[in-house]
Amino acid sequence: MTTEGLARDDALSSRRPFPADAFERLDESDDSEFYRKDRFVQHLDSTALSTVEAVIGQLITEPEPVILDLMAGWDSHIPEKLKPSAVVGLGLNRNELSNNRSLTEILFHDLNKDPVLPFPDDTFDVVINTVSVDYLTRPFEVFGEVARVLKPHGLFLVIFSNRMFPAKAVKLWREATEQERIAIVKEFFKHTPMFEKPQVFVSEGRPRPAEDKYAHLGIPSDPVYAVYAERRGNDSTRPKRPEVRIVFDEDTRLEQEGNAPDKGGHGIHCPHCGQKMKKWAVPVNPFTNWDMEFMFICFNDSCSYYVKGWEVMRKQGNSGTSYRAMYDPVRKTFMPVPVPHSFALRESIVE
Ligand SMILES: C[S@@+](CC[C@H](N)C(=O)[O-])C[C@H]1O[C@@H](n2cnc3c(N)ncnc32)[C@H](O)[C@@H]1O
Repeated sequence: MTTEGLARDDALSSRRPFPADAFERLDESDDSEFYRKDRFVQHLDSTALSTVEAVIGQLITEPEPVILDLMAGWDSHIPEKLKPSAVVGLGLNRNELSNNRSLTEILFHDLNKDPVLPFPDDTFDVVINTVSVDYLTRPFEVFGEVARVLKPHGLFLVIFSNRMFPAKAVKLWREATEQERIAIVKEFFKHTPMFEKPQVFVSEGRPRPAEDKYAHLGIPSDPVYAVYAERRGNDSTRPKRPEVRIVFDEDTRLEQEGNAPDKGGHGIHCPHCGQKMKKWAVPVNPFTNWDMEFMFICFNDSCSYYVKGWEVMRKQGNSGTSYRAMYDPVRKTFMPVPVPHSFALRESIVE
């Protein structure tokens, strides 16, 4: 362990339920060096990003909030309908911060070197932290600081997924399951008494957008997890923030009211065309590791997902292949299953 690591441990040992090496990283070099390189990339697929925006849009209820985007990059995911009076972006890449259209102020500050936030008490209505909490080596101090700079009843919203720069993520995060990561962030909140009990929002198993570069891998959309809490305050008459409720558009309308995959026991419906999916016996062969007996597949040849799939796959160098929407009832997840022609897989339809 580095000397810096030891100092951190001393400071935190009395408050922390994690092992001594939990916040070590594979790459302990200066963070500002690592983030000097511009990364004008989308860190999540488009479905997941719209979920992130919706979560932010629904939980921020203040009319003209003062927002801190903690560990900001080039996009703060703040929906158009919000009209913040100020958005301060704190991060490590100057180009990304300067190109972030939401920001009214930018601040270059390394939280792992100095977790003290350079703002007076009670400054912000909301602090957001998106897909970045995994890089904090001193999270308890940072969470304490966030509580200090939030106004009473102000919101700290931590959003994450399952992608990361592994070299810079802390060991605790790298080695945790996705469920454990939710518990880890809750733990950060719970150790800051100024916060109310943290709430959790989870979005998993949505269909991956057909145009996404990883669509052919058969993986669902990137999951979105949000753990959030208000700073304690005295105003008991203040209305509570709403529960997050995501309504999807035509292509991803999975969770729309009355449109869950199993419509009240009336079968599983394709999230793309709405047709009933067929129960399909999973073949026993050594090439898949599917451990369930049945899946559900949309065999509608007019389904937009299947129709568009030929072109999407051709552009990725897989001419002569498309994919159909498949539902895994064990994991409650939609995913694409590749098909070389319209008749493929039909031999295993069981109803
Ligand atoms: C995966 S990016 C996410 C950027 C942005 N929040 C978003 O949602 O697109 C991680 C961000 O964390 C910031 N970051 C990483 N380590 C940091 C540190 N020690 N102090 C402050 N910011 C840091 C980087 O500048 C980078 O922009």
